[in-house]
Amino acid sequence: MLETRIQTGLDAVEAAMQNSINSDVETLQDASLHIIKSGGKRIRPRISLLAFVLAGGDDMADVATAAAAVELVHTATLVHDDINDHSAMRRGQVAVHARWGRTFALLTGDYMFAKVYAMMAPLGTEANKVMADAAVTLVEGETIQAKAAKAGVMDRETYKLVIERKTASLFIASAELGAILAGADEKTRACLREYGRYVGLTYQIVDDILDLVGDPETMGKPAGLDLAQNRGVAMTAVNGNGNSAVLEAEAEEDDPVARMMQQLRDSGAVDVARIEADNMAQKAREALYQLPRSEARDELESIIDLIRDRES
Ligand code: IPE
Ligand code: IPE
Ligand code: MG
Repeated sequence: MLETRIQTGLDAVEAAMQNSINSDVETLQDASLHIIKSGGKRIRPRISLLAFVLAGGDDMADVATAAAAVELVHTATLVHDDINDHSAMRRGQVAVHARWGRTFALLTGDYMFAKVYAMMAPLGTEANKVMADAAVTLVEGETIQAKAAKAGVMDRETYKLVIERKTASLFIASAELGAILAGADEKTRACLREYGRYVGLTYQIVDDILDLVGDPETMGKPAGLDLAQNRGVAMTAVNGNGNSAVLEAEAEEDDPVARMMQQLRDSGAVDVARIEADNMAQKAREALYQLPRSEARDELESIIDLIRDRES
């Protein structure tokens, strides 16, 4: 029953996303459709839909547009992120910039961001403010990360700030929009926000672990990019240890990044990050436990485990 409602919502999300990017400028439409149809886990819209049901929402059509807008923001950031991160593969397909070039990838990302305005416009001031804040925070996070990576100062504190802003922001909005559109009370809304925050933090730490230990085929995107580009949880381990031996390996090896990845795995950095991810997951769980038990709450809880244990 719940799964049927969520599936109805997810189908509406797909339709809303695909309709929203229609354009007589074929490049924009083709490149947008390419990344949308490449798949993706749709974890953020799923959270919006479940938060909506948890908070007492009825008609899934009332939340589908906002959930689609969240996923469109996410998708636009991926198109731009792959330019910044020099990553040629996304969702198991060639990245937009690798196929259409940088200029059209920048414009495609801009186009999808702009489409979000039109989707959100009818949804009220509160929902629009939540979405706008998330988008701003996300861009700040990507910028702080790029600056820290350039300067080679991705320490633990900076890393936490980066993942809070670049990733947790949109997870918070995903959950909070579901709450707002269901007309949730303040407590429910605050708990769902907190859930979104900790799920987002868990999500990014796991993503950074996968960058060290994951299989690119399964992930549909390359591994090792964080380390090669001075960011991610890997870099906090290098900086935190003050372990110059790790960095010195770079000069000696044919494939320095692969060598550094191996050294980091051997150093226990992955285990430390897993403990941190588990802590964040536990906090997400505690946020949910402040709310009465329901099928939707159980499902939001199971998402925490899925995120922790995911391989892609
Ligand atoms: C990738 O997000 C970027 C991060 C925030 C880690 P997802 O892992 O949700 O990407 P898709 O949508 O499933 O492709
Ligand atoms: C993706 O971040 C974009 C945002 C979180 C805004 P990452 O660079 O960490 O994720 P992947 O590894 O490219 O998916
Ligand atoms: Mg990236």
